[in-house]
Amino acid sequence: MGDGVRVGTSLRPIPLHVDRGISLARGEGCYLWDDQGQRYLDLMTNYGVNLLGHAHPKVTAAIDRQASLLTNAHQSFDTPVRQEFLDTLAGFLPPALSRMSFANSGAEAVEAALKYTRVATGRTNIIATHRAYHGRTFGALSATSDAKYRDPFMPMLGGVRHVPFDNLTAMAEVMDDSIAAVIIEPIQGEGGIRVPADGYLKGIRDLCDTRGALLIIDEIQTGFRTGAPLAFIREGIVPDILCLSKSIANGLPIGVTVVTEAVSERVPKGSHGGTFSGNPLVCAAGVATLKVLADERLHAQAAEKGQRFQQRVRELGLSQVREVRGRGLLLAVELKKPATPVIKAMQERGVLVLPAGGTVIRFLPSILIEDDQLDEGVEALAAAVRQAS
Ligand SMILES: Cc1ncc(COP(=O)(O)O)c(C=O)c1O
Repeated sequence: MGDGVRVGTSLRPIPLHVDRGISLARGEGCYLWDDQGQRYLDLMTNYGVNLLGHAHPKVTAAIDRQASLLTNAHQSFDTPVRQEFLDTLAGFLPPALSRMSFANSGAEAVEAALKYTRVATGRTNIIATHRAYHGRTFGALSATSDAKYRDPFMPMLGGVRHVPFDNLTAMAEVMDDSIAAVIIEPIQGEGGIRVPADGYLKGIRDLCDTRGALLIIDEIQTGFRTGAPLAFIREGIVPDILCLSKSIANGLPIGVTVVTEAVSERVPKGSHGGTFSGNPLVCAAGVATLKVLADERLHAQAAEKGQRFQQRVRELGLSQVREVRGRGLLLAVELKKPATPVIKAMQERGVLVLPAGGTVIRFLPSILIEDDQLDEGVEALAAAVRQAS
């Protein structure tokens, strides 16, 4: 080809992630298969994404149908399936949350939320919590607390303070008239599945109201898996901004930032957006997913299955287990020692789970998981804990 730069050499990912050592080729329901044909029970659902399991027939059919109709339509155009998505999602939301914008990921949904608080309040300071995880774009990362993610990329966005989670006194101490918003997960996910006391979210809501700050609830991980569609509803509060992502299109990349009319009014036209956001393909997957999740029995069952799981792990009486906790199908087993060897041993036994901090094993199974499959996970956990001790 003559002069110029040579092309066609190898391309590999930057080694950003731990290597789990297997190549996943296929999924169906609660199982995954690697490229060698080995089957795994999936109790991690790609960090909480595949809430309806893999290749759910209704979601797959919706994606297939939409793929042959239209995959992209910029939001300067309407498209029927996007409207259907909005109508379906509205069925889960309090009426005050009446406006929204699309994103392609959780971090992007948070990024929009943080930007909107600036225009809605004219303030820039944010309160987040220790162990919070809100994503890894710059704004979202500034609200995330773990030094491992932050330190390599300093400086963060200014004006973000972190206070202890589940501690209203600590939050009250830093809350003043300069605060644009508090951002909070109803149950911390990446931070170790930490469930705050009842009344904590209500207390934050009150503090925000007193000081004219907005409340951002990040349900990106909790959404649709805590035994109710949305975890904040049981606290009897309504946030000003709600972030959703992960499970709402059962595997296709989507994020949404839902806001009140009062917030929406302050967001200038054309000030935010993205080429792929709200594309018809993800909306079709979202409609199919949310229609399945509208069945309240699924949420009641998720609550029961989660309780049963916790009870069974406690009944094992494993001396290496410090605590079993969670709500619905957002579950953790905290060990008295590092979680990684146990997670590896479980994988060798054909069960995939996740860490959430150094000593915490996290379980994010499908809402359609059967009791005997969860029992299989408990047995693998018991064997792996014994093996690793
Ligand atoms: C609570 C919470 N917020 C935000 C995010 C970021 O989502 P994403 O990884 O899609 O950017 C996550 C991801 O784990 C999360 O758990």
